[in-house]
Amino acid sequence: MSRRALIAGNWKMHTTVMDACHLAADIARLCADVPDRDVLLAPPFTVLSEVSHVIRDSAVIVGSQNVCWEAKGAFTGEISPVMVKDAGGAAAIVGHSERRQIFHEDDALINKRVRGSLKFDLLTILCVGETLEEREENNTFAVIEGQIRQGLAGVDAVHMGKVVIAYEPVWAIGTGKTASKEQAQEVHAFIRKLIETMYEKTIAEQLRILYGGSVKQDNVDALMAQQDIDGALVGGAALDAESFGRIIHFR
Ligand code: PGA
Repeated sequence: MSRRALIAGNWKMHTTVMDACHLAADIARLCADVPDRDVLLAPPFTVLSEVSHVIRDSAVIVGSQNVCWEAKGAFTGEISPVMVKDAGGAAAIVGHSERRQIFHEDDALINKRVRGSLKFDLLTILCVGETLEEREENNTFAVIEGQIRQGLAGVDAVHMGKVVIAYEPVWAIGTGKTASKEQAQEVHAFIRKLIETMYEKTIAEQLRILYGGSVKQDNVDALMAQQDIDGALVGGAALDAESFGRIIHFR
């Protein structure tokens, strides 16, 4: 089963308008010759429109780093799926570990975001991952299973074509520590099996599962060669066009 690879750059809380336009333009140029894979940029809300504009003639798509479940209303500090689309976005990241850890977003809240994002037809990247403590206590699979079951609660099979799961071990994010390709593959295979149990085999086979956590130009090839790794969610290395360009051109 061949799945189309997806390389996503999560810019987190970085870039002014000018930085973002330059970075997006450089990345769009570097993507021009990679027809068989998808590239997604998730810049801060403040530059979604500008980045969408800059990449409009390229194959790159744009998404937000979080999303609310309502189209509009009294939700101070939030962005709605309608606003993401209005700004030219087609995707949203939900449940990133920084949202979970720093802003205490729990699985129930993340599930509302996932369902809201899907309701408005955004490509929805649900992030899951265990902490170092959870891994050391041999709880990795239980934690991942809980986050996926709760994150996807109430999501029908018909919407699964718009779901992407990103496995990002918390201990590997921004730390320079990458999960070994074997550690990542093991969890990815587990996630695919779990999705088969929750839905059906074809849905599991078509699901794209990204790895995230210190993905760099020197480890991307080995990670991408794993059977169940279908792409990468890249933080730090996505802020440098040359590094991200090399990651997009993984072999
Ligand atoms: P990193 O971040 O590549 O800087 O580890 C990944 C992420 O948080 O999505």
